[in-house]
Amino acid sequence: MRRKLAVGNWKMHGLSPQLGEAEALSERHPDPACEIVLCPPATLISRMWELLIGSAIHLGGQDCHHADQGAHTGDISAAMLVDAGAEYVILGHSERRHDHGETDAHVAAKAAAAHSAGLVAILCLGETEAERDAGRTIAVVGDQLAGSLPEGASAANTVIAYEPIWAIGTGRTPTREQIAEVHGALRARLSDRLGSEGDGMRLLYGGSVKAENAREIFAIPDVDGALVGGASLKAGDFSAIVEALEAAPA
Ligand code: PGA
Repeated sequence: MRRKLAVGNWKMHGLSPQLGEAEALSERHPDPACEIVLCPPATLISRMWELLIGSAIHLGGQDCHHADQGAHTGDISAAMLVDAGAEYVILGHSERRHDHGETDAHVAAKAAAAHSAGLVAILCLGETEAERDAGRTIAVVGDQLAGSLPEGASAANTVIAYEPIWAIGTGRTPTREQIAEVHGALRARLSDRLGSEGDGMRLLYGGSVKAENAREIFAIPDVDGALVGGASLKAGDFSAIVEALEAAPA
C-alpha cells in the first residue's frame, strides 16, 4: 500500500506572519488519513518545526547541495535541512532546472546526498508544452527519470512528482487521460528498474492542483497525491486538497 501524500511547495513565498498558516493547517488535520508535508523557504523551516512539534505535519526543503559541506556560498546541505527539522526535500523542480541550469545528473547527485542524510527526495519531472506538442512527453519524462534517480532509490526514500511545466502556476491542467498515461508509464519504468520498490514508490501529480480539481485528479490510477504550489500557501485552500486526498479511492 502506498500512503497518500500531499506536499505543499511554498517556493519563494513566506515571512514570519505566514507561520500562522502552517499552524492553522495542523489544527485542521490533527490526525490525517494521508501524509502532509510543507516545504516552506529554508528561512522558516526551523521555526515552523518548533511551532508544529507534536503535530501531524512533516517538513521539507526545496533544494539541497550535493556536497555534505564546504565552500558553497548560499547553498544548503541535506544535513542542514535535517538539522532544521526537515524530513523531505524537493529536488529537480522545473524552476531549479530552468533558473539554475540543473541537469538530471545534478539532480541524481543531490538525491544521493539527500538519501545519505536520511531525507526523502521528491524528484520532479515534466515536459515543456513544445515537447508535449511534439509527442515527446513519455520519452522526455522517461529520460528524466532514468537520469535523476540515484542508485539506492527505494519506495521509502524517494517520491516522484510529475509536473508538466506548462501546467505550473498557469491554471491549466492535463486531461485525466494525459495524467493517467504519464503516471502509468512512470510506474512501468519504476517497476522495471526497481521491482517491488518501484511498485511501492509514490507518484505525485503537480501543476495547478486546486480544491476544485483535486478530487478528479486523485481518482486517476497511479496518482498517489499532489505537489501543490500556489494553493498550499493558505491553510484553507491546502486543507481542501488534503480532504480530497483523504477521500480518494485507495
Ligand atoms: P502550482 O505549482 O500548484 O502553483 O501550479 C506546483 C509546483 O510548482 O510544484
